Amino acid sequence: MQRLTGVERWRRLADEQRAAGRRIGLVPTMGALHRGHESLVAAARANGDYVLLTIFVNPRQFDRPDDLRAYPRTPEHDRALAADMGVDALVEPALDEMWPAYPDATATTVSVRGVSDALEGAGRPGHFDGVASVVAKLAVITGPCRAYFGEKDFQQLAVVRRLLFDLGFDVTVVGCPIVRDSDGLAISSRNVRLDPSARTRALSLHEALDRAASIEGPAESMRSVMRDVLAAASVEMAYAEVVDPLTLERTGDDETGPRRALVAGVVDGVRLIDNREVYVRGRA
Ligand code: PAF
Repeated sequence: MQRLTGVERWRRLADEQRAAGRRIGLVPTMGALHRGHESLVAAARANGDYVLLTIFVNPRQFDRPDDLRAYPRTPEHDRALAADMGVDALVEPALDEMWPAYPDATATTVSVRGVSDALEGAGRPGHFDGVASVVAKLAVITGPCRAYFGEKDFQQLAVVRRLLFDLGFDVTVVGCPIVRDSDGLAISSRNVRLDPSARTRALSLHEALDRAASIEGPAESMRSVMRDVLAAASVEMAYAEVVDPLTLERTGDDETGPRRALVAGVVDGVRLIDNREVYVRGRA
């Protein structure tokens, strides 16, 4: 595995690999690697890509300084795991190359209106502007590639798809299914902060989604059952929504077809999210 930090070397490496006829598989991360990231690398390898994994804790996507400070940083573990996973190049860019003006505001911000606004965006002002800005920069430096993102962060995936499409990047976005523990809990670096009883309550997010998916009815019936399941488990609900999977617009009660159900809630101070596909049947 090659390891590099400099943006110019990274750009050159990507150009060289393309010139040699390889397709770059970009796996953007903020480190603290886990099985979710492993599945992104596995998908890139299965496609035969030259896997370029980036680790950059992007300060611009944190709306609270304490959250940025508390973000887990495990560089040695990440480097070893990346090598084990079969990553070809590990890029750990420096803050002053990615955002030279930081902590002052960077003049250019990429903002994806609409898909960024509700759900996670409503509670975390500026978060998706930070994500969109850094993903745009990673894509510009890497050049034409396939880029792998997990469906766990479903809204992020929608924002990234829209951004790359609107600005005409030569990047194919590959969304990868959520990886779950054997009890159904979606893998997240935050799960280690759950004690056994909190973990049991956290499973209600997955249960709420499954119960919604079992309903043959309109979106509002799904929202209502999700709210009930989360309340019964004393989860402090942030939202329980049913939306269009591309635009993330709220699904009306007269709509029929495949949609995405998303939930977010706080369990013992730990904020968790989850989602799954559902099929709504609108009121005739
Ligand atoms: O999902 C993440 O880890 C981050 O939001 C991403 C896409 C790497 C951008 O910083």
